[in-house]
Amino acid sequence: MQFVMDCLRVNDSGNLEMGGCDLAKVAAEFSTPAYVMDETTIRENCRVYRRSVEEFYGGNGLVLYASKALSCKAIYRIMKEEGLGVDVVSGGELYTALQADFPAEKIYFHGNNKTEEELIFALDNGVGRIVVDNRHELELLNRLAKERDKTAKILFRIKPGIDAHTHSFIQTGQIDSKFGVALETGEAEEIIRHALTLSNISVVGIHCHIGSQIFELDPFRMAAKVMLGFMAKVRDTYGLSLGELNLGGGFGIKYVEEDMPVDYEKYMEAVSQTVSEECTRLNLEKPFIVMEPGRSIVASAGLTLYTVGCIKEIPDVRTYLSVDGGMADNPRHIMYGSEYEAVLVEKPLAPADTTVTVAGRCCESGDILIQSAHLPKAEPGDILAIQATGAYHYSMASNYNRIPRPPIIMVKDGKATLAVRRETYEDILGCDL
Ligand SMILES: Cc1ncc(COP(=O)(O)O)c(C=O)c1O
Repeated sequence: MQFVMDCLRVNDSGNLEMGGCDLAKVAAEFSTPAYVMDETTIRENCRVYRRSVEEFYGGNGLVLYASKALSCKAIYRIMKEEGLGVDVVSGGELYTALQADFPAEKIYFHGNNKTEEELIFALDNGVGRIVVDNRHELELLNRLAKERDKTAKILFRIKPGIDAHTHSFIQTGQIDSKFGVALETGEAEEIIRHALTLSNISVVGIHCHIGSQIFELDPFRMAAKVMLGFMAKVRDTYGLSLGELNLGGGFGIKYVEEDMPVDYEKYMEAVSQTVSEECTRLNLEKPFIVMEPGRSIVASAGLTLYTVGCIKEIPDVRTYLSVDGGMADNPRHIMYGSEYEAVLVEKPLAPADTTVTVAGRCCESGDILIQSAHLPKAEPGDILAIQATGAYHYSMASNYNRIPRPPIIMVKDGKATLAVRRETYEDILGCDL
């Protein structure tokens, strides 16, 4: 059996192990369902990105962890220790980061419809950059900054016309997106021209994010090229030097055997080369580069442990293997048809000679976690691990059916520590009046 997560091994008891912890024991101690994260992998991923900025771009850049992938205090503490910045997309993420003592000046605030309250919160707490999405936000921010006698340092979110939402990419108009301002219609240039007339706005750079789970380098090279071309145009037209280029996140990870992600350092290598060439060609000073990986920092560091409940065999149709979690802790299959690899924690090497549909416990027929999982014969009570659930799982979890959210357990050097406790029924009732 090949695991899609590099941090998994089989220990001397024949059980699945991560971070030096026997996952059967983790399940027994903390109960299931539970998210388990390998802290060493998270830190190592941060270091790979940071080293790549040093090695390929002389350190003239910043890696931001896109905290929508997994937002909790423990993660912001790790990012702080690893010297990364973070991007946040809501007041809630910003609040969590600040509560974890994350330095405000290394926080970038994204979002296509930030509320007035959120912008005030960001300004009052001195976040490093606000990534402005549209003209309404620009004017609102200028007013709020003026009222506080502050200058907001901003980047504009640009639609560069590169669509990389699939395994390949296309260069298109792609103006049909709710995020950002378009280059090709002149909207991006117009918003910059307008920003230059505003008293409490300082435009320091531009940003784009071209998609997620991308396995190719060319879309990033192309995005860098397009964005630098725009920077040169802004310089030539308005005499404005934009010193910062933020190329977003989107680097792919391995969910299933067939996924072939590129080594993370390759992104910076490719982008650096393009930036050097284009800056020479356009006679531009090389900008400060910012990248925003989310999924690729945490996804392959995490798995979800479930306990197998009923196994329902429907002759000539399929076998449903139901677990004690489901779409409330993992809505990705029902939302995107995402695929996963599963392992039985106490039989990780047994031949996978049955095919089952792993179903959740929610009151929806579509509450499926894996359509066709190849597993050894399972029994009720077995512990099932679904791999690569470290990103966009806890952060997308809900209380659907009033199911409490699972805990997050960090494992490292043989120790399992609770990072987020399991929700209780009282927590769920917390806001009910
Ligand atoms: C603006 C922005 N930056 C970064 C990311 C992180 O993307 P990923 O988790 O795919 O690296 C996203 C994801 O949606 C995003 O919208």
